[in-house]
Amino acid sequence: PRVTVLMGGLSAEREVSLSSGAECLKALRAAGYEAEGLDAGPDLPRRLMDNPPEVVFNALHGRWGEDGCVQGLLEWLRIPYTHSGVLASALAMDKTRAKDALREAGLPVPHGVIVSREAVAEGHVLPPPYVVKPNSEGSSVGVYIVREGSNAPRLAETMPEQVLVEAYAPGREMTVAVLDGKALCVTDIITDGWYDYDAKYKTGGSRHVLPAELPREITEACLTISEKACAVLGCRGLARVDFRYDDARGLAGLIILEVNTQPGMTPTSLAPEQAALCGISFPELCDRLVRDATC
Ligand code: DAL
Ligand code: MG
Repeated sequence: PRVTVLMGGLSAEREVSLSSGAECLKALRAAGYEAEGLDAGPDLPRRLMDNPPEVVFNALHGRWGEDGCVQGLLEWLRIPYTHSGVLASALAMDKTRAKDALREAGLPVPHGVIVSREAVAEGHVLPPPYVVKPNSEGSSVGVYIVREGSNAPRLAETMPEQVLVEAYAPGREMTVAVLDGKALCVTDIITDGWYDYDAKYKTGGSRHVLPAELPREITEACLTISEKACAVLGCRGLARVDFRYDDARGLAGLIILEVNTQPGMTPTSLAPEQAALCGISFPELCDRLVRDATC
C-alpha cells in the first residue's frame, strides 16, 4: 500500500519527529513500500482529504501527534494508522491520569501533584528532591530537577500554567519497548548527568546497555510490568515504558516514569535498538507496524 509518514508537526518535539520520520521513511522504502513524508501542519486535514493515503505511519511526537488528536482525525477520515488509538494516546500523554490508571492496576509509579506555576515558585511543594515537568510533554522538554538544599525553581515562561511535581525517583534510567503486547528487552541508559534532551539525541550523549545487566528477577519484573502497563492503557503496535531502578532497594526500587505511545525512532533512539537485538530490523519493525495499522 501507499504509506504516508506523518512527521514534524506542531509540538515541542518537532525536530525529534522530523528525525524519526526521516528514519521511518527510509526504512519503509527499504521494505518495499511506496512511501512519502508529510509535515503535519495546520493544513493536515485538508491534505489528507485531498490525497488520502492507504495507510498513515505516525512518526509524530508530543502534542497533537501523540495525544489522540491526530488519531481522532484519522479515525474520522477512515485512514488506517500505526501505533496507539485515540484513548490510549490521550491517556498516556496525560502523565497524571496515566499514573492513576497504572496505580489502580497495582503498578509502581512516583507520587506527584498538579500545581500552578506560582505555587512552585513560592516554595517547595514536595520535600526535595523532586522533579517539576509539564504534565503532557516528551523528550524531557521543560523538566526541572530540584535537589536537597536548593531553592524552589523559577520556571520558564514557556511552561504551562499547571505543572506536575513528582517525588524524585533515584537510580538508573531504564526502558522497555513493547511490540504488539510483548516486551522486547531492558535497556540500561548510562549518562554523565541526567538523561535530558541532549543526552537523548546527541550522538554519544548516552550509552545504552542492552540487555541490561540486572538480577534476573528485576529484568523479569521490568518486562512483566511493561506489558501490563501497555495493556492497562490499551496501547497498540509499538510503545515504550520508561523506568527508574534503585539498586539498593531491589524490587521496591523499580518505578515506572511513563509510557510513551510514540517512542522515538531517531538514530539514537531506544526502541529500534531493542527490536534489532531481538532480530527485528528497522525495516521489518516499520513493516510490522504498517501491517497492523487500523482505524
Ligand atoms: N518522546 C520521545 C520521542 C520518546 O519517548 O522517545
Ligand atoms: Mg516521554
